[in-house]
Amino acid sequence: MENKELIFDNNADILIERADLTKEPPAEEPYRQYWFIKKARELIKAKSEELGRPLTSSTVTFGCQMNARDSEKLAGILERMGYVEVQEEEADFVIYNTCTVRENANLRVYGRLGYLHSLKKKNPHMMIGLCGCMMQEPQVVEKLKKSYSFVNLIFGTHNIYKFAELVVSALLSDHMVIDIWKDTDKIVEDLPSQRKFPFKSGVNIMFGCNNFCSYCIVPYVRGRERSRNPKDIVREIEHLVADGVVEVMLLGQNVNSYGKNLEEPMTFAQLLQEIEKIEGLKRIRFMTSHPKDLSDELIEVMKNSKKICKHLHLPLQSGSTDILKVMNRRYTKEQYLNLVERIRAAIPDISLTTDIIVGFPGETEEDFLETMDVVEKVQYDSAFTFIYSKRTGTPAAAMENQIPEDVVKDRFDRLLSKVQEIGRDMSSRDTGTVQEVLVEEQNSQDPHLMTGRLSNNLLVHFEGDTSLLGQICQVRLDECRGFYYMGTKVG
Ligand code: SAH
Ligand code: SF4
Ligand code: F3S
Repeated sequence: MENKELIFDNNADILIERADLTKEPPAEEPYRQYWFIKKARELIKAKSEELGRPLTSSTVTFGCQMNARDSEKLAGILERMGYVEVQEEEADFVIYNTCTVRENANLRVYGRLGYLHSLKKKNPHMMIGLCGCMMQEPQVVEKLKKSYSFVNLIFGTHNIYKFAELVVSALLSDHMVIDIWKDTDKIVEDLPSQRKFPFKSGVNIMFGCNNFCSYCIVPYVRGRERSRNPKDIVREIEHLVADGVVEVMLLGQNVNSYGKNLEEPMTFAQLLQEIEKIEGLKRIRFMTSHPKDLSDELIEVMKNSKKICKHLHLPLQSGSTDILKVMNRRYTKEQYLNLVERIRAAIPDISLTTDIIVGFPGETEEDFLETMDVVEKVQYDSAFTFIYSKRTGTPAAAMENQIPEDVVKDRFDRLLSKVQEIGRDMSSRDTGTVQEVLVEEQNSQDPHLMTGRLSNNLLVHFEGDTSLLGQICQVRLDECRGFYYMGTKVG
């Protein structure tokens, strides 16, 4: 067996080549998956010769940034198998990476499956795969088996690393292949992946969640919290940097509890310090931070860091201590406000953003006004506002006094206009200053404009060309237009 220390992203390809298809697939991961990638390559090559054209694939993400990072792994594996990536409409293999955090995420998947069915009728070679959080719900899988029998492959979040093996099963089967695990304690490293941007990348630092906020389905569909080994994280980032990446986004449902269950426990702040040392890496972002676990050590590390961006996403969910208690968030309104004060005192120019749920069971007008009060006091740069969605199996779903739709809608509208009004004011506060931006995109409407991201996560459009992509430039922020700036490159 190869020495584990020798493998990294870039040489997954060498190890795929080395897989010996004349032998049985190895039992050990990730070698087993390398074997199946090579096996799939053979099957796909034969099929493509038969059809006289390349086979195509499309990976569609429905969920959060962690879901998106998983999709990059799926896309990387499909690419190594020989699929050519195209739009969903033209693909021979479509994989939907689903989300189930709110009901409307599920409805979107069912709606689009109907559309895929019509495409499949036109292309008999088409295969449809479904994975991600929604597949961890037994009632979803039942419904798919019953009414969506044209789907070829269904798997969940815990065995996503087995994607190559599952694709081979689906390619060789005329039936729906289903493989869902209840949980796992395993983390498989070193699978190939594909990046959306050459210069920035998400990096998982942990998986799952142990918090069980009473409204949230994530702990049920993503399983228990597992932290990646810091050495594996640092090694991945070093290789990303060698490959042109200058910014990483560290991903976890609650990054502040990173490392608690490692053999040699380590705090998130300590991990950040290790990552800061990586030469060539320019920017570090992370999400999400649970307020209950945000330590003074982390604030200190952020304050002294040259690379950690001046942005903190700090989900509030509700401003009412009573509701927070029933939500099982484990902080009070006062503790949250005090935390914000400490962060602002240490890092005055930090941008704060948040998530807020409106209409949680039992939320009174007074509770709602407490939320409005926190929004007013904290002055967020922006906030994602959500209407409470009942998720089967969570404690909140069984709670009495669910709030009538019209009441929720009214509160939602009031909250939204408040966060927008404040966001507009907050966003403009750096007008006239020169800031470092990472140039991310050419403007789709005006090709003379490039779009860059500030440390505080806002965007600025300025005149430039594509040679600037992936570079860090100095840009003067001339004018704020709502939630973005127009600027001029000065260096
Ligand atoms: N781990 C992150 C959140 C992940 S889910 C955290 O704790 O901050 C992203 C957001 O979806 C949550 O912050 C919450 O605001 C929202 N959300 C989760 N479950 C929801 C539900 N049942 N209804 C409405 N919004 C929900
Ligand atoms: Fe859901 Fe709470 Fe875990 Fe976030 S911390 S994923 S809201 S249970
Ligand atoms: Fe959705 Fe799963 Fe993320 S439920 S929000 S894709 S962890």
